[in-house]
Amino acid sequence: MRTLEHTRQGDAAQVLTLREERHRPSPGVGEVLVRMLVRPIHPGDLIGVEGLPGQPEQQWGPRTPGVEGMGVVESVGANVRAPLLGRRVAVFPAPGTWSDFVVVPADLAVPVPDGVSDETAALMLVNPLTVRMLYRAVEKALRGQTGPVLQTAAGSSIGRLVSAAAARHNLRLINLVRSTSGAEKVGTLYPSQPVIATCDDDWQQQVRRHAGERGVHVVLDCVGGAMTQHLAELLADGGTLISYGHLSSGTTPLEALPLIARELTVRGVSILHWMSRTPRERAEDVAFAQDLAQRRPDLLEVAAGYDLADFNAAVEHARRPAKSGTVLLTTLRAAGSGQGAGR
Ligand SMILES: NC(=O)c1ccc[n+]([C@@H]2O[C@H](COP(=O)([O-])OP(=O)(O)OC[C@H]3O[C@@H](n4cnc5c(N)ncnc54)[C@H](OP(=O)(O)O)[C@@H]3O)[C@@H](O)[C@H]2O)c1
Repeated sequence: MRTLEHTRQGDAAQVLTLREERHRPSPGVGEVLVRMLVRPIHPGDLIGVEGLPGQPEQQWGPRTPGVEGMGVVESVGANVRAPLLGRRVAVFPAPGTWSDFVVVPADLAVPVPDGVSDETAALMLVNPLTVRMLYRAVEKALRGQTGPVLQTAAGSSIGRLVSAAAARHNLRLINLVRSTSGAEKVGTLYPSQPVIATCDDDWQQQVRRHAGERGVHVVLDCVGGAMTQHLAELLADGGTLISYGHLSSGTTPLEALPLIARELTVRGVSILHWMSRTPRERAEDVAFAQDLAQRRPDLLEVAAGYDLADFNAAVEHARRPAKSGTVLLTTLRAAGSGQGAGR
């Protein structure tokens, strides 16, 4: 069994190592052992490995990155009633998926619908569930209005899911990207939504032209850093900045934002809090994710797949500007064991 691990935070190429061992974990009561086939490299996984600027470095015993992926249930522990043995499942939250095996509670192993490829299944949970959480936060902040909402990094995997959700719900969305080529790509995918490149000197005026005099009601931001202040300037009085990522390097002090004078709200959203949603909401979210994987696999785009052992090349690709989709770490299936990870 191969496992990627690190004992301190730092540059992935420096701190990640591949360990091989004979030992394979066993599922406990209510758990299943999943032979992992495909796992994504999400920006959040890289933050876990490398840390965030300005935050103290963390050290652990050996830690294996990855929170989701897909595989086949290899064995089941006592008291697992669902017929999961031998089934393809997507898993989340499942800390340590960058390994050949992971043990998860049986109720977090989501059956992959027939016809959904292994690669799509590996991307089925984290981003779609995040978009459900973001959408709820946007609805709450809009208090019945239909926008305008401004989102950053609109060409990201999450950004495209947000665009699709906005189109479905008739939400007025303005898309921001950082480059002209990125704007062309997003504009082709969602021609009815304005798209603006922040490399243009007048990008804020362009947003104001689309948003109208009052400004945008909600900003959905995963860039952060110095951009935060510019985004806050575009909010209408009483508007909300929803922060859910940190793609840029820098930081903005809270005091630099006109929170009090303009009664702005800043809130965070994290998929790591998804487990605290009600069981009913979680079941609805998972059903949404399964349906999306079947109907719109194009929204769960794969940038490239690399064998688990090629993790350095995979991480380099995951960081590449203008990449489209998510980079996957794969393990080849044994011959004759069904749908392959390379499909
Ligand atoms: N809070 C949560 O629970 C949660 C869950 C999932 C994801 N996220 C966050 O959502 C964000 C997007 O994730 P993803 O998986 O969709 O990413 P992704 O598919 O890897 O896409 C990354 C995108 O970000 C753009 N980008 C990178 N650095 C940037 C910068 N400094 N300024 C502006 N744009 C930049 C890239 O644009 P170019 O084309 O210009 O290179 C690319 O479109 C990440 O911040 C991630 O951490 C948060």
